[in-house]
Amino acid sequence: MATFKLDGKTIPFEPGDTIIKAAYKQGLEIPNYCWHPGLSSPANCRMCLVEIAPKAGARPLMLDVLEWDAKAGTYRTAQKPKLLPACYTPAADGMEVLGDTSEHVRRARRDVQEFLLLNHPVDCPICDQSGECKLQDYWLEYGHYQKRMRDEPVHKPKGVVFGPTIVYDGERCVMCTRCIRFMAEVAKDPVLDMRERSNLNEIVVAPGRQLDGHYTFMTEHVCPVGALTTKDFRFKARVWFLKTAPAVCQGCATGCNAHLDYDPRYNKAYRYRPRDNEKVNKFWMCDEGMLTYKEAHDGRVLEAKVRGAVTSTAKALEEVKALFSGVAKDSIAIVFSAGHSLEDNWALRELGTVLMGTKSLYVAGRPDGYEDDILIHRDKNSNTKGVQQLAPAAKPLAALVEEVAAKRITHALALGSAAADDAFPSSAGARSDRVDVDALRLSKLVVIAAHEGPLSAVATVLLPATSWAEGSGTFVNSKGMRQVSEKALEPQGASRPAWRQIADVAAALGYEASWTKLRQIRAQLMGTAAADAAAASSPSVADSATAE
Ligand code: SF4
Ligand code: SF4
Ligand code: FES
Repeated sequence: MATFKLDGKTIPFEPGDTIIKAAYKQGLEIPNYCWHPGLSSPANCRMCLVEIAPKAGARPLMLDVLEWDAKAGTYRTAQKPKLLPACYTPAADGMEVLGDTSEHVRRARRDVQEFLLLNHPVDCPICDQSGECKLQDYWLEYGHYQKRMRDEPVHKPKGVVFGPTIVYDGERCVMCTRCIRFMAEVAKDPVLDMRERSNLNEIVVAPGRQLDGHYTFMTEHVCPVGALTTKDFRFKARVWFLKTAPAVCQGCATGCNAHLDYDPRYNKAYRYRPRDNEKVNKFWMCDEGMLTYKEAHDGRVLEAKVRGAVTSTAKALEEVKALFSGVAKDSIAIVFSAGHSLEDNWALRELGTVLMGTKSLYVAGRPDGYEDDILIHRDKNSNTKGVQQLAPAAKPLAALVEEVAAKRITHALALGSAAADDAFPSSAGARSDRVDVDALRLSKLVVIAAHEGPLSAVATVLLPATSWAEGSGTFVNSKGMRQVSEKALEPQGASRPAWRQIADVAAALGYEASWTKLRQIRAQLMGTAAADAAAASSPSVADSATAE
């Protein structure tokens, strides 16, 4: 493979890679504002300038400059190497690139910083980007100068509402155009543009439009400074108090990789950020998915209930025992959840088919919804494929309703609360709207769920399960990729992992579950304990590059 040297380090590259892209692939950051690995390169910020050492015997590319001679009190002519943007210059075999090791490069970076900050308000104490802002990071690394401009800075519009989700601050904007390019190139909706010139530059929304659609949050995410903020996260938290866990979005079957940012002091999730994974979501997430972090808290089942009345988990388990004792296995149904992890569904399958011996298997999930050809999948469940693999013969929930109405099924054990019609939608047919599950009241229904929904509403016994945010779980996306979503929060209320609740239900019914730990389930799922380790570092984790 062809290579070049960056500050003495050997960097391999593919044909067509720019210097910055090749370095990025090796986990090295060349300072940048306008470049983004998922967007085109306008090379307008000049922060990535590098020095290219001339080949032996070749004439160096030099530039005439004026330098201030403090002693003489005047400018004098001088020469310096002509620096090139690493985001636009193709890597070449044997090239020698100087970045941090070149005094010219370090000075250029400092000068770009000074230029960008001439009119910047430096309102870091009230800026949501503070703590993860490239202006701050690069000032610490290359700035450290005394501001020379004494004039009143140029003032620009602040707090401009771009649309239902995004607010713009013109004074903080460094005009990198990432937001414009994201909307044009990825979201395919060129609704943003730049107007005026020089220090009067400003980002604007097309006349008659607002910044809306399914990918507006990404403009905030690609913005390297605090110029674009989401209404959702604005003024809610300081990022240095947040911790993060590698998660998998639960919004649809695409299974976008995400960082779930949470504050451990309050056991509270604050936001999702995309986690780069070229094979799944590249660098992006959709708005609907970005907001699903709220489901870590909203609509949760946090206490056990028997016939709607709150009780302890122990009492609820006693009720399960009373309900199910002596019931013929042919009268019992199992309902898998297309939104719960592979581990939870596996435990339910073990209890239902191996220990209880039932053959009546069903699956429930959320109804289909909007889809596009960027990321968003019609299937709004994170693990339909996983359940399909575990229980290919599982029937749609509507079939269970019929069986219960006909009194052929009298007892059911269900995972999750969602209830849509078609279990595994064919590529031709969409999963229709919610099933009317009212008839399930005729049965003795035990529901183990993290969220309230149609099934929890008709449950005889409801046991609280942890959500995906409170435990580690494996989800199989629409492409069949197993991805692990890791634990961020501590279990809330009386909730416990569903696979653990299922083991307790098994014990209450007089069976001995073969699992007491997650890793035992994973070993079963993957075939061997060694393969379990592979699941723990799923493609989502292993293939992820460092997110911005
Ligand atoms: S708003 Fe942010 S992303 Fe857009 S041009 Fe300004 S600094 Fe760049
Ligand atoms: S496309 Fe699907 S998985 Fe990706 S962020 Fe949106 S809802 Fe989540
Ligand atoms: S990152 Fe290269 S010019 Fe902006």
